[in-house]
Amino acid sequence: MADEIKKGLEGVVVAESELSYIDGDIGKLVYRGYAIEDLSADATYEEVLYLLWHGSLPTREELDTFSETMAEERAVDDYVLEALAELAAVDEAPMAALRSAVSMLSASDPEAETEPQDLEASLRKGRRITAKVPTILAAYQRLRDGEEPLEPKGAALSHAGNFLYMLTGEEPEWVAEETLDMALTLHADHGLNASTFASMVIASTLADTYAAVTGGVGALSGSLHGGANQDVMETLIEVDRSAKDPVEWAKDAIDNGRKIPGFGHRVYNVKDPRAVILEEKSRDLGDASGERKWYDHANKIETYLVEEAGFKEKGLAPNVDFYSGTVYYQLGIPVDMFTPIFAMSRVGGWVAHVLEQLEDNRIMRPRAKYTGETEADWVPIDER
Ligand SMILES: CC(C)(COP(=O)(O)OP(=O)(O)OC[C@H]1O[C@@H](n2cnc3c(N)ncnc32)[C@H](O)[C@@H]1OP(=O)(O)O)[C@@H](O)C(=O)NCCC(=O)NCCS
Repeated sequence: MADEIKKGLEGVVVAESELSYIDGDIGKLVYRGYAIEDLSADATYEEVLYLLWHGSLPTREELDTFSETMAEERAVDDYVLEALAELAAVDEAPMAALRSAVSMLSASDPEAETEPQDLEASLRKGRRITAKVPTILAAYQRLRDGEEPLEPKGAALSHAGNFLYMLTGEEPEWVAEETLDMALTLHADHGLNASTFASMVIASTLADTYAAVTGGVGALSGSLHGGANQDVMETLIEVDRSAKDPVEWAKDAIDNGRKIPGFGHRVYNVKDPRAVILEEKSRDLGDASGERKWYDHANKIETYLVEEAGFKEKGLAPNVDFYSGTVYYQLGIPVDMFTPIFAMSRVGGWVAHVLEQLEDNRIMRPRAKYTGETEADWVPIDER
């Protein structure tokens, strides 16, 4: 029993948490009790951050103060922007650039030296990182395009609106701001997913919030996790360019044993509730622009896989990444910024779980079942 291996830690419970609850059999997700459907329809991302970090919904006054503080913390120092310019010059991938930039932010944090167990200080560090991530990402995109980064606008624009402004240089249309805000809300937290768990493991050693979030960005970049949203969109573009029927593409993919990006989940056996919301948004954006093909391609693939290819019977359904890409694409966001946008949101969850971990910390230290030799005879190097 002691040596029973839970590959991928499936089903292993390592912590108590009050942050998000998932019922994978009925497709339910709540943050601190509030249904994702209500939050995505009515709450702003800032409101969700407040809820996750402070434990309750803010009053109007509390939210205004919180949003103003975040706005004051959006600017990024020149040394980070200079490093981003150098990374852009060598064509570093945006997630890798973000990982490096987040790590560098600690150098100018006035509280960098405070103990992680000082939860108020750790929260302030997490808030500063969260405030700066959109600035880093927008600056990086502009630098890649040969343009100067823009200063954040301040509290006049929301977290989502500021990102779009800094990316494009124009104040966003209401639909774009509201859509991105909704996507940020949907991605903010999701139990002990791989990147959140990575952040918690790092925090459990009493390394600081910067180390924990940097690790979270690294874990999220993989194609089995946050990287899937980019893979989905690249797949849809491939389907579109080949002028192949999406169903034919899906049949070929299954025949060739390909994993379909945006499908399957460790926790859900049914459609991810976030995918339900993003699907509707994707269709609405398509209808509004008169170009519904991205939604249509995705929906045809989903219908075929779920209804005809046996995915339903195997408990495989669209996850959050299956429709998010088509939403971002229709907002004109470059495809390799999709996973960074996921990070821009999930950083809120990483910080919340790091704080929860630190409240009642014990270092994370599992074991491996050793399968190697135990009695090897030592041979000096010149005798081998
Ligand atoms: C999310 C994911 C990593 C979960 O992994 P997991 O819980 O370890 O599940 P497994 O990879 O072991 O998959 C279980 C079975 O379902 C199949 N499966 C899982 N996801 C699949 C997919 N996207 N397409 C086709 N088959 C899939 C596996 O091949 C495996 O089949 P088998 O038992 O016959 O070998 C996995 O579903 C996946 O790789 N999905 C695609 C990437 C993705 O969308 N990631 C974002 C997640 S939010």
